[in-house]
Amino acid sequence: MFKNILVPVDGSDQSLHSAEIAVELAAEHGGKIHLLHIIRPSDYSFTGIDILDLVQKSAGEIVKHTEASLKDMAEKGNVTITSEVTMGNPASVIVERSKQGYDAIVIASRGLSGLSEILLGSVSNVVSHHAHCPVLLIRN
Ligand SMILES: Nc1ncnc2c1ncn2[C@@H]1O[C@H](COP(=O)(O)OP(=O)(O)OP(=O)(O)O)[C@@H](O)[C@H]1O
Ligand SMILES: [Mg+2]
Repeated sequence: MFKNILVPVDGSDQSLHSAEIAVELAAEHGGKIHLLHIIRPSDYSFTGIDILDLVQKSAGEIVKHTEASLKDMAEKGNVTITSEVTMGNPASVIVERSKQGYDAIVIASRGLSGLSEILLGSVSNVVSHHAHCPVLLIRN
């Protein structure tokens, strides 16, 4: 069933935890997961194009770090991990990607700015309402 899973990651503990759950799920079905991090234009455009390089590097670190944390678990479960960094509006990019044949999206309810009591962050809110495939929402 859940052989091909899309896992958006923002570098938060919550997104790492949801990625671990995705690996567990995929391991039951000899599947694969695709880690996706999206850089928002507002993350760099405010202070000018100069910091784009820096932002891209730190985005690369986010997916690398997530991938490294999942490595042992993935190897044991025979799960293939691929990863990608792209730019755009995170929610819109994820909703678009959900048309591409994934069996599920596994996403945490909150992320980096998840300090408040509100159940859903802006990204998980839009994704759970508009995705074109099943969404497994991980509450923390
Ligand atoms: N830029 C991003 N790229 C990929 N996935 C993201 C990105 N931002 C958020 N996500 C995913 O969505 C989950 C929920 O994050 P979300 O941004 O919705 O909540 P938040 O950070 O707590 O609140 P806010 O709406 O203030 O950003 C994250 O754990 C992560 O899995
Ligand atoms: Mg956020």
